[in-house]
Amino acid sequence: MTTVKVYDVPGEWANRAFLNDDTYQAMYHRSVTDPNGFWGEQARRIDWFKPFTKVKNTSYDPHNVSIKWFEDGTTNVAHNCIDRHLATRGDQVAIIWEGDDPKDDRKITYKELHAEVSRFANVLKARGVKKGDRVTIYLPMIPEAAVAMLACARIGAVHSVVFGGFSPDSLAGRIEDAKSSVVITADEGLRGGRKVPLKANADAAATRAGGVDTIVVVRRTNAAVPMQAGRDVYYDEIAKTVSADCPCEEMGAEDPLFILYTSGSTGRPKGVLHTTGGYLVYTSITHQYVFDYHDGDIYWCTADVGWVTGHSYIVYGPLANGATTLMFEGVPNYPSNSRFWEVIDKHKVNIFYTAPTAIRALMQAGDAPVKKTSRESLRLLGSVGEPINPEAWEWYHRVVGDDRCPIVDTWWQTETGGILITPLPGATKLKPGSATRPFFGVVPQIVDPAGNPIEGPCEGSLCIADSWPGQMRTVYGDHERFVQTYFSTYVGRYFTGDGCRRDEDGYYWITGRVDDVINVAGHRLGTAEVESALVAHPKVSEAAVVGYPHDIKGQGIYAYVTLMSGQQPSEELRAELVAWVRKEIGPIASPDVIQFAPGLPKTRSGKIMRRILRKIAENEFGNLGDTSTLADPTVVDDLVNNRQASQ
Ligand code: PRX
Repeated sequence: MTTVKVYDVPGEWANRAFLNDDTYQAMYHRSVTDPNGFWGEQARRIDWFKPFTKVKNTSYDPHNVSIKWFEDGTTNVAHNCIDRHLATRGDQVAIIWEGDDPKDDRKITYKELHAEVSRFANVLKARGVKKGDRVTIYLPMIPEAAVAMLACARIGAVHSVVFGGFSPDSLAGRIEDAKSSVVITADEGLRGGRKVPLKANADAAATRAGGVDTIVVVRRTNAAVPMQAGRDVYYDEIAKTVSADCPCEEMGAEDPLFILYTSGSTGRPKGVLHTTGGYLVYTSITHQYVFDYHDGDIYWCTADVGWVTGHSYIVYGPLANGATTLMFEGVPNYPSNSRFWEVIDKHKVNIFYTAPTAIRALMQAGDAPVKKTSRESLRLLGSVGEPINPEAWEWYHRVVGDDRCPIVDTWWQTETGGILITPLPGATKLKPGSATRPFFGVVPQIVDPAGNPIEGPCEGSLCIADSWPGQMRTVYGDHERFVQTYFSTYVGRYFTGDGCRRDEDGYYWITGRVDDVINVAGHRLGTAEVESALVAHPKVSEAAVVGYPHDIKGQGIYAYVTLMSGQQPSEELRAELVAWVRKEIGPIASPDVIQFAPGLPKTRSGKIMRRILRKIAENEFGNLGDTSTLADPTVVDDLVNNRQASQ
């Protein structure tokens, strides 16, 4: 076995960090032995309108899965992220916005954010939005995205943010599922110098979904877009007609805050529902301790607000803590591969949080684009979204962080609301590639296939033994699916869908998904979604999709496609199918490889054996396992021969 290099906590961190190893251990112990005491105290980090008297009330019993935290307290998320900071930090910058073009930027103080969010909230009210209504947000990375989210929170509307890279069809599915009659979008988005036709997509989605009576359009590029009278309004025009004063709605701790759709192993994306009190307490505490955020720090998370990382660690966690949070509209390689590092120098960023796929892509461009920048403001680096391979970790540490900055490799999920397994920079020795140890209140369990927890060093499926305040509460509109997906595989525990190893020091190493979910460049996709897009093409009869190792994206999309009889494989058809999937789901779902397959390996009962398809995609032909149960074992030989012939 290769020896793992261990990085000690740097000396200066021992002095400045909120927590060292002793305080971590003590707080962790308390958090899991006395969750009511621990979280009851931690919940005071936010303002409550009416204090709670109960802390934890949760059950993982599959007959009665129910998760409630602070249930009789009332509060408001926008109040906590904005209003309560006005007295002490009204003139402090809340959001630094860095545009796609390096010449475009904006700084928004807490006072300005307060006025803008109140105005946006009044716009929504003017269009009839009430507490509990669902509002779909389909915006690029502009400040109005955060403003619109907070405006919903202010009036108790439930936002559903849809990533701007999703297609009209994907957007329509989410609008329909949430029964949302209001959509907020922009004329166009701008990324890497290219325009994204957001309003046109929203129009197409609204036509398909039905029930949309308002589209609020934020001007970004000022492109002329069709506006449907009565339904469509420009934000800047309607904003002038409303006041900048809007009181915060009093919300129960368990009132919904947002829905965020995420892919699972079966069926359509699920609407992950997060609520008010527990989510805010959890994102606030994790943002403070994981990033060791101190007043005055400049913090930058490069995610898009269309993903959970953007919700929890661009908007809610940082703003709850009165932080200065940077929002970036662009991409890492535009106008050049130095862009991230130039933004860090320009805004004197202290804490930088990004995804392994970006690190790997930039690593391929060499050290020079990094080394020509100073990065002296940097103190801490973070990673999220997929396993980070040790080579990329070392490069991030040595080249980006000049061997000076700890890296927090944070493991979590849309469902978990916030970070669950992570180093704390002043407390945890680091091992490249390991997410290290659990955060407060989190009890990871590694279980064997029979569902028995395994002690000590081991490998298996990762479960969490008990609830934490940031946990999702249900699948919107389908509680049974919530129970089935997360609490029925291993009864009495939350099943994450990830595989995991625990080493002799109790450190956790996430090995990737064990279900039919793939993680492509940090974006989560269900193989079933890509398959149903492919089979919707008139020339396709059957499709099976698997992940395979990809140098930059972590996993790539490998699609086996069986054509309708009479159809011939061709390069043109291959390109047509890739374009088709982009149109159906969005560019993130474009297959990297399409292998035309006259037949797929199926059991006699007709189930596709993906295990074999995965091995072929990984080029592991000598290791295909037992193929004797297949209805037609010769199918496998054909697939292998074709795969080899194509290389
Ligand atoms: O497989 C894990 C991987 O991303 C999945 C969750 O994806 P999503 O809900 O889109 O949320 C991504 C951002 C939180 C997990 O089940 N994952 C996330 N972070 C890590 C990770 N895998 C390894 N290491 C991580 N740090």
